[in-house]
Amino acid sequence: MTKTITVCGATGTVGNSVALRLLQEGWHVKAITRNQDSAAAKALYDAGAELATADYDDIASLETAFQGTHAIFGITNIFQYLLDDGPDAAAEREKQQLVNVATAASKIETLDHLILHTLPGGEKLAGPGNFVPHMDGKDGAADIIKKELPVLAAKTTFMWIGFFTSNFYETPMLKPVEVPNTNGSHVYIQPADPTLHIYFAGDVPTNAGIFVSAILKNPTISLPAKYAFLYTSQGTMQEYLQAWINVTGRQTTFITTTLENYEKIWGPFGKEIGLMLKAFAHVEDWTTPYRGDVITAKDFGLDEGELVDLEAALQMAAEKL
Ligand SMILES: NC(=O)c1ccc[n+]([C@@H]2O[C@H](COP(=O)([O-])OP(=O)(O)OC[C@H]3O[C@@H](n4cnc5c(N)ncnc54)[C@H](OP(=O)(O)O)[C@@H]3O)[C@@H](O)[C@H]2O)c1
Repeated sequence: MTKTITVCGATGTVGNSVALRLLQEGWHVKAITRNQDSAAAKALYDAGAELATADYDDIASLETAFQGTHAIFGITNIFQYLLDDGPDAAAEREKQQLVNVATAASKIETLDHLILHTLPGGEKLAGPGNFVPHMDGKDGAADIIKKELPVLAAKTTFMWIGFFTSNFYETPMLKPVEVPNTNGSHVYIQPADPTLHIYFAGDVPTNAGIFVSAILKNPTISLPAKYAFLYTSQGTMQEYLQAWINVTGRQTTFITTTLENYEKIWGPFGKEIGLMLKAFAHVEDWTTPYRGDVITAKDFGLDEGELVDLEAALQMAAEKL
């Protein structure tokens, strides 16, 4: 029997990777979007997906879209709400959207597996006072699902992702900038020490689909309520930057600034990234507070060659750098 996966966020970077990979593997893919006329939605239809409309803020629309599905993937994005609503309300809204997906999923009798993108909470990593809206909202949703929807939690995997390589061309704060009146010198100004330890997710448009496929194929490893962490390597912020230097050949200097100055430059988005980096500075190993419940590509036996690492991803994107 052909199995159906409903992919929320299918027109975005991560969801699109999941939808395309599972289509390739023979799943029936129902792609959720709020706008079936977008170019991304049309491309999914042309690739073989069924399109359906639902909104994370509307549980009834999610429940209708989930009917008859065997698996659901969900990913939210807080960043627009940070501008519209401010950080606390934005975190609350993202948390509620993930809980809405779970509540609707809990009504679906055919469902075998729910995969939700979350992140470790800033307060769990670094202690009280280290609330990071886009991390704590997602992690708070995972906690609510585990506490209030235990039957669903038994068939849920929470999926974390490390730093996207596309930050170097899609996230203005995380792009090196050229210094005017120099011979092409660049600076990378961050509210962090260059020795700060982070995790690199490599080429997310390739790796996310492969990783979700591994989660689905290995329920004895990914369930119940495990945190499946997608990264291809780990290192310092300087090493993250070094991969960019290696590929572009540009002379680039890492400069540490304060969170206050970073916020002055980049506004609410800067504050969000800065709070995240501040939380990471407290704990090198993100899995520490979740010890025993975190699984990685190694647990799935994914070969190193299968996932595309940071430097290879940068080489693939060289013309955008
Ligand atoms: N950049 C990094 O290094 C990094 C690292 C780890 C995690 N992350 C996380 O990655 C996530 C972003 O993923 P992405 O890049 O794939 O996002 P994205 O490209 O912005 O896509 C967002 C998707 O969500 C859908 N969507 C948005 N609001 C919706 C709503 N109200 N109802 C239904 N669907 C809705 C959109 O669909 P339609 O518009 O078609 O409806 C779109 O498909 C964020 O949560 C971020 O925290 C980023």
